[in-house]
Amino acid sequence: RRSVVSVQATGVINPSVKKDLDKVVDTIKADEIEGKKGVFCRCWRSAKFPYCDGKHAAHNKETGDNVGPLIIEKP
Ligand code: FES
Repeated sequence: RRSVVSVQATGVINPSVKKDLDKVVDTIKADEIEGKKGVFCRCWRSAKFPYCDGKHAAHNKETGDNVGPLIIEKP
């Protein structure tokens, strides 16, 4: 639970994604999603942000957190 305490103390969720920007906003058109689904990062640790690269698993193991991706399925 170290990380949870750290987030509460600082208010910072994003450790490294596009820190040169005031606000990180990503827009992806549905038809730009490759394959049948898009898997999007919600842990802010992915090197492929805004897409999930699986780093949430290590984050969860290290911190006891329980975050995972948002998956959008195409019709
Ligand atoms: Fe962030 Fe998977 S890498 S949710």
